[in-house]
Amino acid sequence: MLKKISVLFALMLTGPLMPNTMAQTRMDRFIDSLMVRMTLEEKLGQLNLPVSGDIVTGQAGSSDIGKKVREGQVGGLFNIKGVDKIRAIQEIAVRQSRLRIPLLFGMDVIHGYQTVFPIPLGLTATWDMELVERSARIAATEATAQGINWNFSPMADIARDPRWGRASEGCGEDPYLGSAVTRALVRGYQGKDLSLPGTMMATVKHFALYGAAEAGRDYNTTDMSRVRMYNEYFPPYKAAVDEGVGCVMSSFNEIDGIPATGNRWLLTDVLRRQWKFKGFVVSDYTSINEMTDHGMGDLQQVSALALNAGLDMDMVGEGFLTTLKKSLKEKKVTEARINEACRNILVAKYKLGLFDDPFRYCNAERAATEVFTPAHRKEARDIAAQSFVLLKNQGNLLPLKRKGTIALVGPLADNRENMTGTWSVAADHAKSVSILDGMISLAGPDVRILTARGSNLDYDSLFEERAGMFGKSLRHDTRPADVMIREALNVASQADVIVAALGESAEMSGEASSRADIGIPQAQRDLLNALLKTGKPVVLLLFAGRPMTLSWEQEHVPAILNLWFGGSETGLAAADVLFGDVNPSGKLPSTFPRHVGQIPIYYNHKNTGRPLPEGGWFQKFRSNYLDVPNDPLYPFGFGLSYTNFNYTSPLVSNPTPRGETSITVSTKVTNTGAVAGKEVVQLYIRDKVGSVTRPLKELKAFRKISLAPGETKTVSFEITTRDLKFYDNNLRFDWESGAFDIMIGGNSRDVKTASIEWTK
Ligand code: BGC
Repeated sequence: MLKKISVLFALMLTGPLMPNTMAQTRMDRFIDSLMVRMTLEEKLGQLNLPVSGDIVTGQAGSSDIGKKVREGQVGGLFNIKGVDKIRAIQEIAVRQSRLRIPLLFGMDVIHGYQTVFPIPLGLTATWDMELVERSARIAATEATAQGINWNFSPMADIARDPRWGRASEGCGEDPYLGSAVTRALVRGYQGKDLSLPGTMMATVKHFALYGAAEAGRDYNTTDMSRVRMYNEYFPPYKAAVDEGVGCVMSSFNEIDGIPATGNRWLLTDVLRRQWKFKGFVVSDYTSINEMTDHGMGDLQQVSALALNAGLDMDMVGEGFLTTLKKSLKEKKVTEARINEACRNILVAKYKLGLFDDPFRYCNAERAATEVFTPAHRKEARDIAAQSFVLLKNQGNLLPLKRKGTIALVGPLADNRENMTGTWSVAADHAKSVSILDGMISLAGPDVRILTARGSNLDYDSLFEERAGMFGKSLRHDTRPADVMIREALNVASQADVIVAALGESAEMSGEASSRADIGIPQAQRDLLNALLKTGKPVVLLLFAGRPMTLSWEQEHVPAILNLWFGGSETGLAAADVLFGDVNPSGKLPSTFPRHVGQIPIYYNHKNTGRPLPEGGWFQKFRSNYLDVPNDPLYPFGFGLSYTNFNYTSPLVSNPTPRGETSITVSTKVTNTGAVAGKEVVQLYIRDKVGSVTRPLKELKAFRKISLAPGETKTVSFEITTRDLKFYDNNLRFDWESGAFDIMIGGNSRDVKTASIEWTK
């Protein structure tokens, strides 16, 4: 017995448990001793995240916020830009408040801080998780140099309705790819340990199902089965939790009739009990108060509902601050729950090292030397070039030759403010590289570039105003449309090739930027049509914050390169790809519909009892439309290259595996073209028979490879029973014996199949 104990003791001293448990005990003791000294008001203060905006240093002490901080009524602040302002407020917290508890400083660092990377949908289109993680690492390096210790990213909301403007902020339509991206972002922001310099706490949002808003209208109702939630919408949030994300943000929408912000099943049963989440939960912006409009009661009622559901921090609404004391008296909430919420927030502050050094994120030297550096900008340029998706390239119009005259036309050709896309709170837009800047600097001596605006964003100036907020206007040109088009045609007439930079402005996607028509606005479409009529070759350089409808463009324009919004280096990255210095390798993370009426459209859909035979057009009494085909314009995973790749049929190591084993599936991929290129090899599985209906295919693995001209590589994937598991009708996560198709290809449509039979 004695021997056993001493072995155990020795193990504790040497084993990996030892430092963690000791650190945990030290932290618990510290927080216990702090909390016994806190008044109820001070505890409620920790749960408060008031609106602060961009506070000016000099006014910090005298502003209302300064007063609240001094009185211990604030747990954190957000979206304050600039290390001096943050330091000034933190000084009030740790020098003038009674218990000197430091503040959290949050921000929406969604795709970069001052060095801006492609919008998250574009980052996802790289299908390169190392790049995604690096972008987040750089974002964290820059943001933490400027005082930020808490990030409101990643957004893990699966989106299958491109009318929803926030599709731009997410990781597309697929749970597997979405989970990979979400994990990479959390790793990038948080690093190995939050106490390390240059790391910040991440927040997975918006929990949950926010991307499934009915009709794609932001903040709208969601309603779905639990089988769908668990199999298709929950995985990316869960992936973030498994990766150790520090914070979860609740969403605006309702789930099963109860808003997520007050939904105990979601925030406690699923998040804490099933997923073992250990961090804290913050509401979205006034989402507690908004439960009154949802019909859940007055501010006191909804605040109690949120706290009891498991929500810890109230963003902006101040319902916790102003009503919970009364609710406690009336026994509508418990002191234990208030303590728990307060502790969750104090633990985050402790883990961030704020109690050791409240100013560790306010490093003037780092702020001056580690933000928007040439090295970061170079990475942003590389990543942007890999996020672009070549949608069409008839007759190898691209890459452009470095000689002759290019007409660069369109309202997005010579604009810097819109390059970063939505949510670029900390960026200096004047420093972004426009398409014109980029092309001029990379074209070389034998190219002449002529430019003309050609059109406004749209004919409707009110629409233009709505689509040009936050200093990202396209600056309305007051000349009549036909005058602008004539000027563009004049420039085009002198050119060998026309590059038309068209599409959405930055703020046509993002929050509260839903669209019913997701095509290119008519004024630009008219310009494009006029340019095509010249008979000269036209390249459409597309700006898109979402999947767009491009059926007309696909039919008439010879080359289409989708740039999404590439970030601060967009112009250089676009020129890299246009001139062929970089071969495009992005693949779509979301299906592009032919027509808005097909929405929701996504590759991993179910069969019906009356499916249309593959490749079929219309059949009566089959599941289809009278007026458009079922299939999308561009499928999930699609993207062309300046070279071609050939795939052999998948080879399976064992077509009849039994039990908890693994098999290997491999394919040979050959670059059959004349230039080097990167290809995303995608593996999909179809579970052919199940106790619940199963999707026609599901992405289960992918790898991005580089191939020299003529080179062949064998790509092997290991498949285990884990890849076959799903939630059944009783929400049991398991796999079932039966036949499976394993498909490999360069997109979700063009695949080669091997069939296997896997038994328990
Ligand atoms: C958005 C969140 C964001 C928050 C703070 C809300 O309106 O929905 O995504 O993090 O504002 O800026």
